[in-house]
Amino acid sequence: MTDILTQTENGICTITLNRVDKKNSITEAMYAALADALAAAKDDTAVRVLVLQGDAKVFSAGNDIGDFLNAPPAGVDSTNPRPVFRFLHGIAAFPKPIVAAVCGPAVGIGTTMLLHCDLVIAGDNAAFSMPFVNLGLCPEAASSLLVPRLMGYQRAAEALLLGEPFMAEAALEAGLVNRVVPPTEANNVAQAWATKLAAKPLTSLIETKRLMKKHLAATVAQTMDEEGLSFGRMLREPAAREAFGAFMERRKPDFSKV
Ligand code: COA
Repeated sequence: MTDILTQTENGICTITLNRVDKKNSITEAMYAALADALAAAKDDTAVRVLVLQGDAKVFSAGNDIGDFLNAPPAGVDSTNPRPVFRFLHGIAAFPKPIVAAVCGPAVGIGTTMLLHCDLVIAGDNAAFSMPFVNLGLCPEAASSLLVPRLMGYQRAAEALLLGEPFMAEAALEAGLVNRVVPPTEANNVAQAWATKLAAKPLTSLIETKRLMKKHLAATVAQTMDEEGLSFGRMLREPAAREAFGAFMERRKPDFSKV
């Protein structure tokens, strides 16, 4: 079974995270498949809108923690970017509209990738979290820039320093999502919104999105790279090693010595 499913129909390219037994946690191979799918959709004239979805129970538990332990991405190498950076830069600069449908856990990059989507439909079971600090890490995907802008500093500090989950209604109030619907309807509503978008002039959609994003585009890319350097370093440090070891051993991490 493929962990990333891609289907294009009626102008809509739908990408489905499909590693449900591991809560759609994202491996290096999945980042590569996601980055390739974005690059193909960008150039494919048959694609007018992108939809990103999981299923009614889970969106994504974030980066695969086994990969973090065994093959941590190091910094940012612009000549040969790791798949996660290809994905992040690809989604941040994707020129056509992106609609996301999010149900259940959306952890780490499961939440931060939404900052680069245009419209987000959440199931009422959606639980967003950015627990980077709890993992001995720091924000990624330009979330250190975009979350304070979106939510205001104090709510961003609550999300990024405490790292506790917040539910769909709070995400709606904070402006991270556009609508909250029953989980079984989230993917259908995303398709309905994508269908509306696909019927509009693509040139206008692309230009409108470009104009809305242009003031921050360079800063977003720069911030992602700066975060990536810190994140890559911190992945190898004792706090993160303790956090990942604790997750694998299903125990509470002990940060008393870090
Ligand atoms: N990386 C690797 N495997 C993961 C994973 C991750 N990020 N998240 C979940 N899994 C695996 C579990 O190890 C488990 O595998 P197993 O069945 O072989 O034991 C399976 O997915 C189910 O996860 P489980 O924790 O039992 O599900 P749950 O419903 O109790 O909890 C979450 C769901 C998302 C709350 C919980 O799995 C979690 O906190 N995951 C880690 C999230 C995280 O810290 N991500 C990194 C962000 S940077």
